[in-house]
Amino acid sequence: MSLVQWIDFPLKGDDRGSLIAIEGAGNVPFDIKRMYYIFDTKAGVSRGFHAHKALKQVAFCVSGRCRMRLDDGVQQQDVWLDSPSRGIFIDTMVWRTMHDFSQDCVLVVLASAHYDESDYIRDYDEFLKQRAPV
Ligand code: TYD
Repeated sequence: MSLVQWIDFPLKGDDRGSLIAIEGAGNVPFDIKRMYYIFDTKAGVSRGFHAHKALKQVAFCVSGRCRMRLDDGVQQQDVWLDSPSRGIFIDTMVWRTMHDFSQDCVLVVLASAHYDESDYIRDYDEFLKQRAPV
């Protein structure tokens, strides 16, 4: 399974403008239990710096853009999240960091479970220890 897995959301456009509908277990590969969004991020701030043991997520920017770095412990890849119609799937045990937020960036994250701090790995060395050998 490749580290970067895009999900394209079909655009329901007409002459009034655009609309995108996202359904759990439809165009997102899990039942959505939680949604949160990051906005008003100050200049120069980077966020994330964690992996999840069980949580799966899909992230996309409904406004503006940011750069996301995904790292499975072997390879790292940078992607720009800059489209409301294209999300990135973030699997379990992927270390993610977000950088270069534009001023108008609204980063939406859909998650497969409720917030649970015990599901986080916030120490990079611990992440490397816990990840399955690739
Ligand atoms: P944090 O994990 O630092 O965000 P990021 O992934 O962008 O670095 O979360 C910031 C704060 O928000 C922290 O106190 C935990 C809290 N939080 C919740 O209460 N619920 C949530 O769903 C999330 C994602 C965070």
